[in-house]
Amino acid sequence: MNNTGNAPVQLTDVRKVYGTGPGAVDALAGVTYEFAAGTFTAVMGPSGSGKSTLLHCAAGLDTPTTGDVHLAGRSLRGLDETSLTELRREHVAFVFQSFNLMPALTVRQNVVLPMTLAGKQPDDAWVTEVIRAVGLGERVKHRPSELSGGQQQRVAIARALAGRTAITFADEPTGALDTTTALEVLTLLRDQSRRLGQTIVMVTHDPVAASYADRVVFLVDGRIVSELRRGAVHPTAEAVAAELAQLSAGRLSPTES
Ligand SMILES: Nc1ncnc2c1ncn2[C@@H]1O[C@H](COP(=O)(O)OP(=O)(O)O)[C@@H](O)[C@H]1O
Ligand SMILES: [Mg+2]
Repeated sequence: MNNTGNAPVQLTDVRKVYGTGPGAVDALAGVTYEFAAGTFTAVMGPSGSGKSTLLHCAAGLDTPTTGDVHLAGRSLRGLDETSLTELRREHVAFVFQSFNLMPALTVRQNVVLPMTLAGKQPDDAWVTEVIRAVGLGERVKHRPSELSGGQQQRVAIARALAGRTAITFADEPTGALDTTTALEVLTLLRDQSRRLGQTIVMVTHDPVAASYADRVVFLVDGRIVSELRRGAVHPTAEAVAAELAQLSAGRLSPTES
């Protein structure tokens, strides 16, 4: 598969090896993929298949052993740390499993922090809207320690939405949330890609979460082995679950089955 060169996030034969010698692990074993502008893509696969590594390499938080990543039109190869930080601040937002909130700051201060760091003026009305949309309108002055895990994750999601960056990376963003809140958050992410043309890459193990995406890519042993892609219709949770079941079955060696 060749990349067209226009997508906001492109991986070209990305390999990532952790460790050396006999203990070395090929976390990514040659991934070439384009995350097209305005698409919401879910990345799925068994535990240890390289999902987080893919996300970290794509976001410039980790460096591939070989291969190249283009982020917002720039090759990350050889980019120094300062330029990389600036590139990320300008174009990228993150939602991680660990929320990475600043304990001393309030909800609102946490939400606007990336913009403050990037020297941008927050759009106050929009910030208020996203905080309300994630259900924290009553808690803008609370600090993270005064919030539940689900509420803290919603702060992290509001923070990612508030800056209206071109690209959002999310690693299991709904993992810590109850079903209702999870569906609200997924709807927000989907709206963000639909309405603002944001490119979203979300790692999840949940077929229902993946069904909110436009595309679902499946990783096994550090390789993309299949993809579900629908035009106007989102991949259904059933189709995603069926694909996962097939991949899991395919992974069993004859001695295991
Ligand atoms: N920092 C690291 N050091 C060594 N091995 C790692 C490191 N991070 C991930 N790995 C290994 O790389 C593989 C892929 O990990 P990861 O990307 O976290 O998978 P996933 O997110 O799909 O569970 C796993 O075998 C994991 O143990
Ligand atoms: Mg992971």
